[in-house]
Amino acid sequence: MSDGLPVARTLPALRRAVMKWRSAGDRVALVPTMGALHAGHTALVRAAKRRGKRVVVSIFVNPTQFAPEEDLGTYPRTFDSDREALARLSVDLIWAPSTQVMYRSGFATRITLAGPAAAGLEDKFRPHFFAGVATVVAKLLIQCAPDFAMFGEKDYQQLKVVSQMANDLDLPVKIIGVPTVRENDGLAMSSRNAYLTAAERVAAPTLYRVLKACAGKIARGQLLLRVLDEGSAALERAGFMLDYLEARQAETLAPIDRGNKGSVRLLAAARLGRTRLIDNVAV
Ligand code: PAJ
Repeated sequence: MSDGLPVARTLPALRRAVMKWRSAGDRVALVPTMGALHAGHTALVRAAKRRGKRVVVSIFVNPTQFAPEEDLGTYPRTFDSDREALARLSVDLIWAPSTQVMYRSGFATRITLAGPAAAGLEDKFRPHFFAGVATVVAKLLIQCAPDFAMFGEKDYQQLKVVSQMANDLDLPVKIIGVPTVRENDGLAMSSRNAYLTAAERVAAPTLYRVLKACAGKIARGQLLLRVLDEGSAALERAGFMLDYLEARQAETLAPIDRGNKGSVRLLAAARLGRTRLIDNVAV
């Protein structure tokens, strides 16, 4: 395909392109993705273009963040249409390493995390997940050497884990959070929405509706535990199997205590049939 959008598949090719821009003084922004791009990803690309003259989008389905029973094998892979969409957005480079390029034989390093990665939310249900994410994101940030890297608020705990990791490791990059992009009915866009049956797709926006309703009640001063109980019951009535519905301190993800005056985030994960959905809203 000759759309003029280069694809780097080796580290020397990536570094040559980035070094050229950096020595010309261009700011570089990175958007890490696993492909199967939708409007949530393109919002990250647009935000990246506002920050950097040069935008790199990485497409890498990272095996180390999937547990053996999860959907690594069936995760949607749509490279050609992803590339067309990124060419239309005037992205400068796609970084698409193979698994062998990312994890050379004998690869033996893994970042160990605490803080927001041990908040008892996603980490409780996907214990392997954040070490896999943090390790690959650290590699992507070192490989691409961007000034900015964009992450969606859709994966709110991931955004906090990556910010903490980049800060703790003194990586010279600013991590930018981008608001969640939703379908017209409120469902947060996700590559995994493609797994929903027609009936599940009808029920799916209830997750966001319940989060919004709970956030409104908490903001009006209603008792937290009661609001969360009612929200959980509403989700179960709509057919969800709830993993968690929790109110946390927005920055640290620590549980809310009585004296807490800081901002609050409501986060939920729930399964509809075989599909696991996550979402969150500010209170
Ligand atoms: P992926 O699920 O492809 O998501 C890539 C980025 O897009 C993440 O920062 C995610 O939060 C953001 N995103 C997804 N849906 C969004 C939506 N509806 N609105 C706004 N942003 C959205 O998250 C990953 O990949 C991986 O864990 C990765 C960070 C690439 C590491 O492998």
